[in-house]
Amino acid sequence: MASTTSCLLLVLATVAVLAPGAAVAQLLGNIFSINGTIPCRMDPATLVTSPVFPNATVLLQCGTDVLASTTSNRDGVFNILLNPTAMVLSTLLSSCKLVVTTPLSLCNASLPSSGILQSTLNALPSNLFSLLGGVLVNIVPTNFAYRP
Ligand SMILES: *[C@@H]1O[C@H](CO)[C@@H](O)[C@H](O)[C@H]1NC(C)=O
Ligand SMILES: *[C@@H]1O[C@H](CO)[C@@H](O)[C@H](O)[C@H]1NC(C)=O
Ligand SMILES: *[C@@H]1O[C@H](CO)[C@@H](O)[C@H](O)[C@H]1NC(C)=O
Repeated sequence: MASTTSCLLLVLATVAVLAPGAAVAQLLGNIFSINGTIPCRMDPATLVTSPVFPNATVLLQCGTDVLASTTSNRDGVFNILLNPTAMVLSTLLSSCKLVVTTPLSLCNASLPSSGILQSTLNALPSNLFSLLGGVLVNIVPTNFAYRP
């Protein structure tokens, strides 16, 4: 533990000497934890309990950039932990969305085999922590809705 700490401090000191501005901004960036449940349905569903969408690929898309992607588990639950980033919360909320790229027909054959589910993002204000000058914020989908 002690050696891990001093090793980390050494790395921090080295990084700070080599690239003061950029490295410190990265280390002290914001951490966003995005989680939720993907519904197996076309109509908007805020609180999803069933039916859920297992094994679905979900992307965190900001403009045309895909920042992260993951797959929902067998309960339709996914979690994306965004590494410390210089992006601020308001930018994430205004420019990013969750996009499910796996067709709905995979969780229910009666549903379309084209189109996507997508949702904007919402921050849980009670889970806002200050962390080394950055913040750790829990983010959830507002509402997954079908787009043809
Ligand atoms: C997402 O995270 C929040 C806060 O930690 C938690 O209350 C909620 O149950 C989680 N939702 C899912 C679907 O895991
Ligand atoms: C999800 O994927 C796993 C591994 O590929 C597979 O074993 C499982 O049957 C899949 N579950 C569903 C509900 O599609
Ligand atoms: C599959 O989708 C159809 C059409 O929306 C719906 O009527 C049916 O209940 C769904 N089946 C399951 C198992 O959710």
